[in-house]
Amino acid sequence: MSELTPIWPAKPEFLEKAASILKNGGIGAMPTETVYGLAGDAFNTFAVSRIFEAKNRPTFNPLIVHISDLSDLEKLTSFPLSKLQKLIEAFWPGPLTLVLPKLDSVPDLTTGGRPSVAVRLPAHPVARDLIRLSGGFLAAPSANPFNYISPTTADHVQSQLSGKIDFILDGGSCKVGVESTVISLIEDRPVLLRHGGLSFEDLKTVLPDLHERTELHGDHGPDSPGQLAVHYSPGTPMKLWKGESLSGKKTGFISWSFIPEDADVTVLRLSEKGDLREAAARIFEFLHILDKLNLDMIYAEPVPEIGLGKAINDRLRKAAGKG
Ligand code: TXA
Ligand code: MG
Repeated sequence: MSELTPIWPAKPEFLEKAASILKNGGIGAMPTETVYGLAGDAFNTFAVSRIFEAKNRPTFNPLIVHISDLSDLEKLTSFPLSKLQKLIEAFWPGPLTLVLPKLDSVPDLTTGGRPSVAVRLPAHPVARDLIRLSGGFLAAPSANPFNYISPTTADHVQSQLSGKIDFILDGGSCKVGVESTVISLIEDRPVLLRHGGLSFEDLKTVLPDLHERTELHGDHGPDSPGQLAVHYSPGTPMKLWKGESLSGKKTGFISWSFIPEDADVTVLRLSEKGDLREAAARIFEFLHILDKLNLDMIYAEPVPEIGLGKAINDRLRKAAGKG
């Protein structure tokens, strides 16, 4: 493989080429509406192990299997489709991942040794075409090195994973901009494992008894490794802004409503009109931009804890975990 991984436009001939690489055990980045995914055949353990290696991700951290056709769900789980009907009608295709009991045929490597499998049917047409052309089941974590910021453009992927993967399909900027919401249906009551691009409030309209698992991991590891406290971090130290003075350092500021006056502070505003969807679509982009500026510190102002604000604040807290 050459040093620089090629970025291909999402045209039919490149989709065919990418699909044939995936069918032969290769791995590559695909756009989805949430973030770019690092895809490989979910049933090919060679491909799946290459995904873990390229990301430097521990193999106990399970992957999401992406499908393009609802009828393929039965190859992953025996969970009755009738029990999922309302959820699927309301939110699939889209930024929702379901954790369901897995069939034995799903490789343990893909599910991090768990008896469950996470499944998502994405909305992005390029992802859908690629999944279909490559056999129907693509394991795809976010296409970033473990613990780094998730990518929302093809360039982000190239600057993070070039040389380690076989191709990058360019489908433009991701519209949702934060990862999917993950819920588990393997217990009696549905549990939210990760806030994401579908809001808790919207989910509650269809799943009234959905509850959030608040306790973090005990001795047996987190229910979902996305709950680890440090995640998605930039290399630059980062803090949540609690009103402190910003002067004295080369500082970046991710703003929701406060606009710092200090001349030496680089300010990026999440949404002029106060729209949390727009803010979600920009959050990783802003972290990528600020992380390249060689700053001493990045501050982020928390956003309102409603709708997509929960996912945004969660990513900001995790990004700041290291700072
Ligand atoms: O939006 C998304 O979900 C993106 C795009 C590419 O689809 N993918 C993504 O994958 O964010 P990843 O691997 O970065 O995050 C998957 C999350 C992790 O927190 C993982 O622990 C959790 O889903 N997960 C996967 N399988 C699970 C399982 N069987 N049980 C519990 N949690 C699981
Ligand atoms: Mg990730």
